[in-house]
Amino acid sequence: MKFFLDTANVEEIKRITKLGLVDGVTTNPTLVAKEGRNFKEVVQEICSIVSGPVSAEVTGTTSEEMLKEALEIAEWAPNVVIKVPLTEDGLYATHALSQKGIKTNVTLVFSAAQGLMAAKAGATFISPFVGRLDDIGMSGMDLVRDLSTIIRNYGFSTEIIVASVRNLEHVKEAALAGAHIATIPGSLLPSLWKHPLTDIGIERFTSDWNKMQEALAKG
Ligand code: E4P
Repeated sequence: MKFFLDTANVEEIKRITKLGLVDGVTTNPTLVAKEGRNFKEVVQEICSIVSGPVSAEVTGTTSEEMLKEALEIAEWAPNVVIKVPLTEDGLYATHALSQKGIKTNVTLVFSAAQGLMAAKAGATFISPFVGRLDDIGMSGMDLVRDLSTIIRNYGFSTEIIVASVRNLEHVKEAALAGAHIATIPGSLLPSLWKHPLTDIGIERFTSDWNKMQEALAKG
């Protein structure tokens, strides 16, 4: 399973990339706005830090606007991926971009039918938003499981990026469902490697070791 970082914060990306855990990055207009920096500058900086796919989202709503922005963004870096919303115009743009060999991440996927449409249109990635579905009392993970089955059933090359990830359970369930990728906020990542029993284990080993050293020193 691949892990993408769901952030536009360059310092966070630099820090976590050093752990060898980052296969790519996803951004969205909200995450970029939080940084208060020039969009192109941020995306280019992220693309120079991470060699894997870096998603940058278009903000236009018509297919013409989306395509215009996408063609410009695609020039920014070789590993940039165009994030397109799942609308009719978005599907049109996705198809046109896939015909040109430009990679896309179709975002804001909330149903299996939407995911199927995006895969058929030629999306490189689809992003089901699990947290936002859970927020309205639905199961985000049911959607991921359905999409995994659909992608497998028809041999689509489209990869599933589980997005809007809020907790450790989401990551575990995404892996069990066979999702290709989970995109994770930097703040959540430590919960993937931390465990209280690991900390207790280290404390006990250290204390036993120190006791033995003291005993040896006393003779
Ligand atoms: C990633 O591609 C999405 O934009 C992101 O995961 C959305 O997360 P949120 O629902 O926490 O805003």
